[in-house]
Amino acid sequence: MVKRTSQQRYIDLIKQTFYFDTPDFTVSNDELNFYGVELMPLIEQYGTPLRLTYLPKISENIRRARSHFGEAMKKLNYDAEYVYCYCTKSSHFSFIMEEVLKTGAHLETSSTFDIAIIKKLHQKELLSKDKYIVCNGFKRETYTNEIKSLWQDGFQNCIAVLDNRKEITAYENLDIEKMQIGLRIATEEEPNFSFYTSRLGIRYNDVVDFYKKHVATNPKFKLSLLHFFVNSGIRDTVYFWSEFNKFVRAYCDLKKICPELHILDIGGGLPIKNSLGFEYDYEYMTEAIIANIQEVCEQEGVPVPTIFSEFGSFTVGESGAMIFSVMAQKQQNDRELWYMIDGSFITHLPDTWGMGYRFITMAINNWDKEYQQVHVGGITCDSMDYYDSESHVSKLMLPKFTRGTEQYVGFFHTGAYQESLGGYGGIQHCLIPNSQHVIINRDAQGNVTTKLFRKEQTAEQVLNILGY
Ligand SMILES: Cc1ncc(COP(=O)(O)O)c(C=O)c1O
Repeated sequence: MVKRTSQQRYIDLIKQTFYFDTPDFTVSNDELNFYGVELMPLIEQYGTPLRLTYLPKISENIRRARSHFGEAMKKLNYDAEYVYCYCTKSSHFSFIMEEVLKTGAHLETSSTFDIAIIKKLHQKELLSKDKYIVCNGFKRETYTNEIKSLWQDGFQNCIAVLDNRKEITAYENLDIEKMQIGLRIATEEEPNFSFYTSRLGIRYNDVVDFYKKHVATNPKFKLSLLHFFVNSGIRDTVYFWSEFNKFVRAYCDLKKICPELHILDIGGGLPIKNSLGFEYDYEYMTEAIIANIQEVCEQEGVPVPTIFSEFGSFTVGESGAMIFSVMAQKQQNDRELWYMIDGSFITHLPDTWGMGYRFITMAINNWDKEYQQVHVGGITCDSMDYYDSESHVSKLMLPKFTRGTEQYVGFFHTGAYQESLGGYGGIQHCLIPNSQHVIINRDAQGNVTTKLFRKEQTAEQVLNILGY
């Protein structure tokens, strides 16, 4: 009999490839824990496919960002505030919004129904009327009407961020004295993009002229905020810094003729861990952002602005996980072994299918078993419904297992965008149902509590949508 050496075990592969354990992941009894929560007992209790949300991670990340910005501002004697807004589109669930609001965060919205959510949260006394509500997006009349209704209800820190020159006309008949507005600046895309300038926002060259003609001359409006968002996120690249610099200069140009302007909104895009090998220096990047703004403002003789951010993925991404069981193994040729899961990447993790996004992927159990290269297959008929690489290597390794034993696989930090993009609760490709969804929390004593938020979608619910 061939003796198994330690190099062949899955646990050794992970420990030799990465710094492991990590604060997020540990292994005990050859099974994986996520933020100290044992996953196998959850699988035994609820079954798979299983979507998880670990709520405490949300407030932890909001505190982390505030602390990085706060520290950097203190170090550099930056004489203005930092305001954390949550980008609601990354996850609109009530339990997420409630967790976010507990931290005192403000909100950024993108469409009409967002405002109904805001009204609901206000009714439940979870959101007060002085919160900043930064309203982004190219707006239909329903959305501008909802924004106006917030103003009429006394939400005096609701800021409609104009996406185009025409939008301002929608607010002209609003019966209030002064409405706060913002302007979104259209950024240039990265050189490898298929177009040059983002379709979102107003062109750099038009901003000052637009302000002079349409805002400065109209006593109803007060321009408070300038907004910017770089698609590829906040990265230490020449492209990001060159766009950022242009943006801060545009702020200074406007500030010189618009004394009321005082908020610089740096948008979203703070990255999250999508691999065990992920490295990002949050302290360095936040300090560089603050230093950059301060330097340009000093050169231009303009006071430094209040800084807003609208982090979506950073707020909720790391709170989520999706667990599947491997239903069968299929050896389709000498080299390609498929692990067929009880779900679909299109339904459950659509970013992996739509844009090749990679999440942290690990076995939940059998860490003492040998590993092998596998392709993970979803159960729709779509040939692209598969996953077979990690962000750092073009291979995916999982434990070997034999008939009669169970193998579970987890995708982690999946908390942002996957539900809305996957059409949660609607109809999905091949009518693969949405999975059950469990919320994990910790009580004041640090004990783990779990709650079933939603059961797996039923045939009746799906047929109802389809009109049967
Ligand atoms: C205007 C705006 N703000 C914030 C965000 C949030 O970005 P992220 O989830 O990368 O933080 C987005 C995402 O598309 C956005 O379009």
